[in-house]
Amino acid sequence: MKKVLFVCLGNICRSPTAEAVFKKMAKEAGLKVEIDSAGTIATHTGEAPDSRSMEHGKKRGYSFHGQFSRKVKQSDFQYFDHIFAMDKSNLRDLLAQCPQEFQHKVQLFLTLSGDPEQEVPDPYYGGDAGFERVLELVENASTALITQLKSA
Ligand code: 4NP
Repeated sequence: MKKVLFVCLGNICRSPTAEAVFKKMAKEAGLKVEIDSAGTIATHTGEAPDSRSMEHGKKRGYSFHGQFSRKVKQSDFQYFDHIFAMDKSNLRDLLAQCPQEFQHKVQLFLTLSGDPEQEVPDPYYGGDAGFERVLELVENASTALITQLKSA
């Protein structure tokens, strides 16, 4: 079974959204995948996802049940097959702590969907539109990830 980790800064907005979206899509596609998310900082450790992320996500049918923020740990680089960063800053932080032998596992999530924006923008300090945009970008990249894992 493939193992996928989504990573953002705080693990309360973008990567929990990616986890929720991809869990639902993978289940619907009949794909058996282990899915988790984490943050590059520990500020929100133990917290449930941001209430705004959950409110917007739940409207589209996604579940955030059992999600609590955690920081990326060294063993993640060995354990997971694919590690997806939400933005370039997350990517830099991940690569800085990832052993050379596992660096090939780490990439920007939106490169999968070929999105020219490349990054899932941080919605934390913004309004509703930012949370909707996160969902759109994550849904597109998740569709591409399903296709990739199915053909693997
Ligand atoms: P996330 O959003 O990285 O998508 O979870 C943020 C969450 C917390 C903070 C920044 C972004 N923060 O500064 O605490």
